[in-house]
Amino acid sequence: METIYRHIERIPESKHPSLQGYNAADELLLEIIPDLTDSISIYNDQFGFLSTNLAHMQPNVVCDLKSQASAITKNCELNRGFGLASPPLFLLDQTEFKTSVALLKIPKSLAMFEKYLEHIHQHLEDDGIVYAGFMTRYFSQGLLMSAGRYFEEIAQTKAQKKARILILKKKKTTIPVHNWETISYENHHLRQHQGVFSSKKIDKATLFLLDNLNQLIPEKHSNVIDLGCGNGVIASVANDLVKIDEIHLIDDSQLAIDSAKQNFDTNAKFHHAYTLDMFEEESIDWVITNPPFHFEHTIDTSIAKSLFDQAHRVLKPGAVLTIVANANLGYEPTLKQMFSEMIVHNSTSQFNIFQCIK
Ligand SMILES: C[S@@+](CC[C@H](N)C(=O)[O-])C[C@H]1O[C@@H](n2cnc3c(N)ncnc32)[C@H](O)[C@@H]1O
Repeated sequence: METIYRHIERIPESKHPSLQGYNAADELLLEIIPDLTDSISIYNDQFGFLSTNLAHMQPNVVCDLKSQASAITKNCELNRGFGLASPPLFLLDQTEFKTSVALLKIPKSLAMFEKYLEHIHQHLEDDGIVYAGFMTRYFSQGLLMSAGRYFEEIAQTKAQKKARILILKKKKTTIPVHNWETISYENHHLRQHQGVFSSKKIDKATLFLLDNLNQLIPEKHSNVIDLGCGNGVIASVANDLVKIDEIHLIDDSQLAIDSAKQNFDTNAKFHHAYTLDMFEEESIDWVITNPPFHFEHTIDTSIAKSLFDQAHRVLKPGAVLTIVANANLGYEPTLKQMFSEMIVHNSTSQFNIFQCIK
């Protein structure tokens, strides 16, 4: 085995003390690769530990998040002084390739696990093999059930440093067909890919926000951002309540952006992105968000706080950031410090709606 590159930076950066760029499941995946592997692909490499360490094998790297793609590229270059032979692909890209070994870091969401398995099934050689790594505390029978929909043979390694690997062989001839899901709010019927946030029904926090949205519209609202848009439900309802000249839908997930595109036909712009860097300072009238507060299995509010800071930068003076958030996340001091005024518009025991004025 060559040197193991362990300097893996996270993108977006996290201030959470226990979040490092890789874990024992990644290390186990790196150890298990057979010596005679002619083609390898890497799925859902969180920040690029696997891609960095295997860059010399010219892997195909497949992910869903724009931030993941950036982290993978950056960490390869930082550690090795060169990048991947070809840049990371996204799950919906149409590129054709065949692989004899697929390494998958199992995501938290079973729906996303199946999305990756579907892609692997399509690109794996008939006698190919899949190694899917996870931390044992996150094991569920659902993992085996999902894997069993795509592969005939499923085995597991022994646990090592609390991580294990599922070994999948023999592709099934018939696999599930993932049709669009439809999620409804009043007369809004939104299509989304499996694996996009709030599968099957609208999220409770989003619902609370939407039920209050008509009282939250700022006086100026020609240029609006739905930040972390998922299927675009917040933008869709806002668009119905008031005339908006241009509404920007932004999400780190390509599956989310592709879903949101299904649900708009006018005045919308879509951004597969994890920052607001593409907007000029003081150019936007209203930012609305149900922000992310998890990174996979861990609660991490630093990404949401960074998005609030970026929203502040792009808002015009006097413009508004509207947030719905779980009541226990403690955003109030940060928002009070960042904005001239912060009002709790409505709250329940579970959620708060904040109206923050620049
Ligand atoms: C709580 S969900 C809300 C989704 C949707 N707005 C709704 O209410 O159903 C947060 C969304 O933010 C996205 N996300 C996570 N980090 C992001 C980032 N740095 N920039 C943009 N979107 C991000 C996630 O992919 C997810 O779709």
